[in-house]
Amino acid sequence: MFDSLNALLSQAISAIEAAGDLNSLAEAELRFLGRKGELTGAMRGISSVPAEERPRVGQLLNEIRQKLEGEIAKKRAAMSAAEISARYEREAVDVTRPGRIPHEGGFHPLTIVVREILDIFGRLGFEVAEGREVELEYYNFEALNIPADHPARDMQDTFYIAPGTVLRTHTSPVQVRVMEAIRPPVRIVAPGKVYRCDSDVTHSPMFHQVEGLLIDKGITFADLKGVLGAFVREFYGPNIAMRLRPSFFPFTEPSAEVDIQCVLCSGKGCRVCKNTGWLEVLGSGQVDPAVFGYVGYDPEEVSGFAFGLGVERLAMLRYGLDDIRLFYENDIRFLSHFK
Ligand code: DAH
Repeated sequence: MFDSLNALLSQAISAIEAAGDLNSLAEAELRFLGRKGELTGAMRGISSVPAEERPRVGQLLNEIRQKLEGEIAKKRAAMSAAEISARYEREAVDVTRPGRIPHEGGFHPLTIVVREILDIFGRLGFEVAEGREVELEYYNFEALNIPADHPARDMQDTFYIAPGTVLRTHTSPVQVRVMEAIRPPVRIVAPGKVYRCDSDVTHSPMFHQVEGLLIDKGITFADLKGVLGAFVREFYGPNIAMRLRPSFFPFTEPSAEVDIQCVLCSGKGCRVCKNTGWLEVLGSGQVDPAVFGYVGYDPEEVSGFAFGLGVERLAMLRYGLDDIRLFYENDIRFLSHFK
């Protein structure tokens, strides 16, 4: 009897020692001390023990029970403490570590340049107007004094959408739409996308222009030069040299292209300015009376000037880029330069 109880004790002790986690410890407890457990069974069997042995057997059983309960409690306490500290370790937050700085987006370089252009003309009193990218041939060409057989229609490599409907090849049709809608004075700038069937390192089938139009009584070529000079100095810096070069556009007469001193070689001559020392930055001119005829303005009463500039070209000069496609590839390494 005593032998078998001692065997039970050592079995129970090794089961407790073998328990690797709280669950198997609970299993061992159930196995020996549970209601149907082995020690409990032995305690129930005490009635069959001869009366004279009963007190000693009873005492031993109690000792075993206390010993096991004590061992289990000790082990359980140690295990929970270990579990808690493991969990602390696992879930620890080092509040002294520097925070993660969220990625900050930036504007696309073309957006930056357009906003700057609009801001400069805004300070000169120009309001922003918008036209449409899918435009009637009438507004894109005819009302701008570019008749059907005019070479400019081929020159501009037009995308036709349907007979009489094109993707606008320039922002100049906005001039006509604005003049149809309001009476003089007019003082607008119109930014937007334009389309031409053309593609190489300096040409993209879609690019951006900003159109300008100023109409009032007594506006002269001197006003054109004054306004565009103010723009060029604001955009490129106060010391930049500028010149007006005679040119031709069907919708302006006289017409002039505006050149600035090459920003890359300061006028000494380089690859970008093709050794001329000058860079063409925009087209302009006094609005042709023929255009006024289309919109019902009286050329005897009002006059004005218009201009159109290419946003990509300005941005390329500003940032020293030689490939227009960089603007459209959305390479994050390129875009992140402009934060
Ligand atoms: N529309 C012309 C182009 O895309 C640019 C231009 C030239 C616009 C002269 C004008 C202007 O308003 O007066 O090539």
